[in-house]
Order: sequence, then C-alpha cells, then structure tokens
Amino acid sequence: MPVDAAEALLCWYVVDKRRLPWRAEPGERADPYRVWLSEVMLQQTTVAAVKPYFEKFTSRWPTVEALAAAEDADVMAAWAGLGYYARARNLLACARAVAGEHAGHFPDDEAALLKLPGIGAYTAAAIAAIAFGRRAVVVDGNVERVVSRLHALKAPLPQARPRIRALVDAMTPAGGAGDFAQATMDLGATICTPRGPACGLCPVQGWCQAYAEGEPELYPVKAPKAPRPHRHGKAYWLEHDGEVLLVRRPAKGLLGGMLALPETPPAEADWEEAGAVEHVFTHFSLTMTLMCARTDARPAGLWHAAATIAEAGLPTLFAKLAARGLAWREKGKAGGGVREKALLV
Ligand code: ADE
Repeated sequence: MPVDAAEALLCWYVVDKRRLPWRAEPGERADPYRVWLSEVMLQQTTVAAVKPYFEKFTSRWPTVEALAAAEDADVMAAWAGLGYYARARNLLACARAVAGEHAGHFPDDEAALLKLPGIGAYTAAAIAAIAFGRRAVVVDGNVERVVSRLHALKAPLPQARPRIRALVDAMTPAGGAGDFAQATMDLGATICTPRGPACGLCPVQGWCQAYAEGEPELYPVKAPKAPRPHRHGKAYWLEHDGEVLLVRRPAKGLLGGMLALPETPPAEADWEEAGAVEHVFTHFSLTMTLMCARTDARPAGLWHAAATIAEAGLPTLFAKLAARGLAWREKGKAGGGVREKALLV
C-alpha cells in the first residue's frame, strides 16, 4: 500500500499514464528536444489540440538543429491555428540558441534552461525533471487544481500560488520528479477535472480533504476576474485575378509575425460588407467585419491564390474571415453566372 499521496500517484501513473507521442517508453530516455517542443506547445493548450502539431513539427524538423535551420515563415505557418504566436517566435529563437550556443544540446539544469528564449519557470522545471531526471518543482494549472483539492485550500488563486508551490515541493520525490509531475498533470487532466471530477476512480482520494468535505469542485478558489472587454474591427479581402492580398503582421504584439488580411483599406475600391466573425482572445473578444472588393489594379504586397487560402497558414481569426471571403467569392461567381445567362436569353 502506498504510504502517501505522492507514492499513490506514482503507482497509478505506472499503469494508467497517457501514451503521448513525446513520452519515452519505459526504459527509454526522453528526448529533450521532444520534451521541450511538447511543453512549449502545451502552454495554454490542450493535449488533444497539440498532438497533430507535435507530429507535424517532429516529422518536418526531427532535431533541434533542423528546426533552427528552418525559415521563419515556414515555422509561423506550421504553427498557425495553435494560438499564442509569441511561443512560435520564441521557439525558433530558442532552437537557434541551442543549436548555435549549446552545440545542439539542451542544457540539463533549470538555471541554464531559464536563460533560453521562451523558457519560463514552468517549462524549465518540466524539462529538467522530465528530460534530465532532475528534482524540480513543476506547477501548471492541473497541478494547482490537484493540490488545492488535496489540501482544500481556502485562499484564492492567484494569491495562493506560493503556498501551492511549497506544497508541491514537499510532495516531489528526490528520484522520479518527472514522473511525479506528469502523474499529477495526467490526474488533473483525466480524473481531477475542473467540472465533475471522477473521485471514485482517484488514486489519492484517501488523502483528499476536498473529497472529504464533499464538494471538490469548489477548489481551486479563484479571485473574481474583470470581465473580458469586447472590441470591433474590420478586415479587407481584396481580390485581383484570383488572388487575395495578405499582409505580414509586425513581429511584436497580437498575432505578431503571422500572415493576415489587412485591417485598413489597402486600395480605393467598391467595398462590400460580407458578414462578421466572432473570436475570443485571452484579454478581449472581438467582432470583425469582413469588407470585400475586386480590383483591376494590383497594389504591391503579398498576394495568395484565393482557392488555396486555407493552406496559407493564417491564424484562426483570419482563417475564419478567409472562409467568409471565399463564400463571398462563390456568391459573386454564381451571381455572375446568372447575369451571363440573363444576357444570353
Ligand atoms: N501538460 C503539460 N505538460 C504535460 C505533460 N508532460 N504531460 C501531461 N500533461 C501535460
């Protein structure tokens, strides 16, 4: 019988861990490149959303050197749809630092990992523990929830973070910190879920104060958040000879470095409103109206074939707008067809 919650979690993990493409099989060493890539992708993103991107990146760029040598535009396009695009820019900067300054080997301790672009406290601890077997204290949202419930913490997040960290530190074993971290994350993702936790299946139920109290869903307690503001904007679909005008957004700021539709009129034209799309970002929600027009002139810029716009690597907001642009285009074609027929009659 396990003597404490940490041991119970580790026993459970041996049997019930999720088989994930970046995890080493028993007896294998984890590949630091794959651990790093998965941890960067998993920040603010679910395992289900990450899996196809992870497969795409590792088949196209199987090593950190291969990724370091990639074109910026190719990496940004491959990342399109995953969100939080600063991660993709930092990913490239980090790959180039590891390839250029560390001879292609990730440093194996937290302090050195923290110096690399895009690697913060969580990611440094996760890589040190999972890829290098170091004892490191790994705290993400899943771990916060599990520990808040185990101890029925009454203090709200984010104020409770230092206390949670101390509690995770106290539970983390000297050997197997990587397995312990992943066990806690898996428990949070599959059993100790935010809503409707499956306490009947939980390996640490016997240690859980929130379960004993009877309302585990009350934890973690969260400080009230300010409501998300709503904004409005316009995007412009300008077509010339079967192509659409795109722009590359500035490297810094929202959707930085990504391809997009222009947000100011790129030319004098007979602009027609073609519907709106809704999109939610972390700090605001947005209604964006699409304006469409055809032009005989061809202003200089990045032109992309309209028919293959879905493969251009647009981030989700602009992919949704482009779908509207295509619908507008089809409608125009159908309308043109009808007019032609009318003339023939
Ligand atoms: N979430 C972030 N990193 C994870 C990992 N290594 N295993 C499971 N869930 C995770």
